[in-house]
Amino acid sequence: MTTPPVLTDSDAFRAALAAAVSDLGIEQPIVGLVPTMGALHSGHAALVDAARAESDLVIASIFVNPLQFNDAADYAAYPRSMADDVALLAAHGVDLVFAPDVQHMYPGYPDGPLIRVSAGELGRRWEGASRPGHFDGVVTVVAKLFSIMAPPAPARLQAWFGEKDAEQVAIVSRLTRDLSLPAEIRALPTVRDDGGLALSSRNQRLSEAQLDDARAISRTLSALRSRAREGLPLELDRLRAELAEAPGVELDYLVLVDPSTLREVSPHDVLTAEGVFHGVPGSVPGGVSGGVPSGGALALAAAQVGPVRLIDNMPIPAA
Ligand code: PAF
Repeated sequence: MTTPPVLTDSDAFRAALAAAVSDLGIEQPIVGLVPTMGALHSGHAALVDAARAESDLVIASIFVNPLQFNDAADYAAYPRSMADDVALLAAHGVDLVFAPDVQHMYPGYPDGPLIRVSAGELGRRWEGASRPGHFDGVVTVVAKLFSIMAPPAPARLQAWFGEKDAEQVAIVSRLTRDLSLPAEIRALPTVRDDGGLALSSRNQRLSEAQLDDARAISRTLSALRSRAREGLPLELDRLRAELAEAPGVELDYLVLVDPSTLREVSPHDVLTAEGVFHGVPGSVPGGVSGGVPSGGALALAAAQVGPVRLIDNMPIPAA
């Protein structure tokens, strides 16, 4: 296992990437990027493995982006584990890591950056409504990461994201298309623990009892998906009410949305209206390849469990 170089400076990273790409001696290499905020777990490892399988060179970033936290306490409490993170990336064959500090990414922070990217109306739905500014922070850092980490042409960049953050996947996909950024967005299904809980860096802050409480979220999403598969009425209101009453779970929302526009859709539409939905985020030209079946909806959920806010989602197939 070789430990990859960890570079903290953009110019040094660009130079190292250009050299690594040229060393490949391939005509049109694919560079796979896994952008992360560290505190890596098996979900990130799955992203790296997918990137490894489909790229000639794999790069990763580790940067806890202050712009996407609307709560300073949440930013301060976000888990940080650089040495373990680099060890995981090395074990999964990452070639090069970019791990800048906040002042390098945003000189003068918190007075900068003055110029930021807006996620527009997509950034104000669901997570964006509950965490104002969150998606503006995400698209600002992703645009910067693509600008620093895209390899020189003719090499191509593929960037890998987890479907657990389904809104993020849809929004980053639009960002790439709307700003013509040099990246192809790829998405990988959510990795879950044996009890169905979606893996998240935030889970580290939960006790065993809280982890157990949190599993009510994925159980509810699975129940919705099973009902859709069996052609039964979804009973979204009943399931939402039950989740809101589940011990230790403070439900924010449980909704059905169109995966591309993130607009709410009714359970009736999911079961009956063929073609109402725009399909997977991947149906956006130049968008992602994802796991949401075309014609279906996405069930999105967010809840506070103990000290952390958790999100999860599942594709709900059309009848
Ligand atoms: O999904 C994440 O870990 C972050 O939102 C990302 C994409 C690395 C941007 O900071």
